[in-house]
Amino acid sequence: MITIKDKTFVPFIPADAIQARIQELAEQINQEYADKLPLIVVVLNGAFLFAADLAKHITIPCEITFIRVASYSATESSGQLKQILGLNESIAGRDLIVVEDIVDTGLTIHEVCQQLQAMHPTSIAIATLLFKPSALKEKLDLHYVGFEIENRFVLGYGLDYDGLGRNTKEIFVLHEE
Ligand code: XMP
Ligand code: MG
Repeated sequence: MITIKDKTFVPFIPADAIQARIQELAEQINQEYADKLPLIVVVLNGAFLFAADLAKHITIPCEITFIRVASYSATESSGQLKQILGLNESIAGRDLIVVEDIVDTGLTIHEVCQQLQAMHPTSIAIATLLFKPSALKEKLDLHYVGFEIENRFVLGYGLDYDGLGRNTKEIFVLHEE
């Protein structure tokens, strides 16, 4: 059990299960990208541990780069838009694997992929550690999914509550009384 500010979280996915699943995903990537020299695009901050552990099991040649997604309001009526920060390399003609911590509504990854698509990569695949199918609002093709989970707030192994709690080996879920 772990308490952060006013919230209590209970164990949800143990560290060894996370590591075993990541190894399986990496082996799949090793097979499917054997002749492709992929560019792995890690979405910070949440995916930093997942990406690091995934990369340790990727044995084919690949490049790794890091982006952030900033939310901003362009106008009051159009709501939150997302902007990709930190992408310095040209992605035209590359095979991208976008690495995310979690796909919840899917709005973030959908918009990231649309913006990347406009830069003419050869292909885009999504690798997400966690996926909440019942929260999804966008039609998305998720190529590599670690765990499908129910629609509850999770924390740890990169995922935060108010900036805290990213630094754990296991994943916790919000304890609801
Ligand atoms: P969506 O898919 O809804 O997700 O655009 C946007 C971002 O929200 C964060 N997120 C979470 N963070 N526990 C967290 O710690 C959660 O259960 C959770 N659900 C969504 C995450 O940063 C994701 O990229
Ligand atoms: Mg995130």
